[in-house]
Amino acid sequence: METISTVAGLRACVRKWKQAGARVGVVPTMGALHEGHLSLVHAARAQAERVIATVFVNPIQFDNADDLETYPRTLEADARLLENAGVDVLYAPTVSQMYPPGFATSISVSGVSGVSEGLCGGTRAGHFDGVATVVCKLLMQTLTDYAFFGEKDFQQVQVVRRMVTDLDLPVEIVACPTQREADGLALSSRNRRLAPQQRQIAVALPRIMRASAADIAAGADVPVALAQAASQLVDAGFDPVEYVELRSELDLQPLAVMSEGTPVRLLAAAWLGDVRLIDGMAVSMPE
Ligand code: PAF
Repeated sequence: METISTVAGLRACVRKWKQAGARVGVVPTMGALHEGHLSLVHAARAQAERVIATVFVNPIQFDNADDLETYPRTLEADARLLENAGVDVLYAPTVSQMYPPGFATSISVSGVSGVSEGLCGGTRAGHFDGVATVVCKLLMQTLTDYAFFGEKDFQQVQVVRRMVTDLDLPVEIVACPTQREADGLALSSRNRRLAPQQRQIAVALPRIMRASAADIAAGADVPVALAQAASQLVDAGFDPVEYVELRSELDLQPLAVMSEGTPVRLLAAAWLGDVRLIDGMAVSMPE
């Protein structure tokens, strides 16, 4: 595996691959890799002849300086994992390469009805503008055919899809299922910041969400079920619970009732100390 940190170096490599007829897949990450990221690499390897993984902790998507500072940075370990997983190129630019002095252009997806409204977009000012800007740059820098994202960040996937459609970017976005620990906790780079006691509480998030999703699928009143799930999360030790919402999968519009044939997702974000956890799961009506 080659490690590249400049756009010129990356483009030269990708140009050679494309001249040889290879399709290219990219897995954008902020590092601190876990099995969830590696599942994206496996999906990329199955679909493309050449795979790039990017590791870049993107400062412009953080709304909180402490969160940016404490975000785990483990490049050497990440490189080993990526090499073992069969990645061809690790692209790891520096902040000044990505945003050189004078950098002034940003993609604004804030307030786009549905996709960036509410949920994580409601509480993290500018977060999705930062995500859209860096993902657009990464897609243009890698000139990739496919880009792979995890469904754990369901709203992020929809924001990226919207941006790719709106800007006519010639890339296919592939969403891959959330990977979980044996006890159900969604894999996340932030999990490693949980103290042992918080880790025990964390498992209540998928447990309560699964139960709530089952109640809603069985016909429970949606606002009542959502309020109940939020209060159960508080009882379990989460503080605060940012949101527990039911949204349509396609346009992320909030739903107060289930309607047959519309794919829907239960989405939640809640804090344990200074660690913010999110999760999401599909809600399926019985056939
Ligand atoms: O999901 C992430 O790790 C980041 O938001 C992404 C897509 C790599 C953009 O910085």
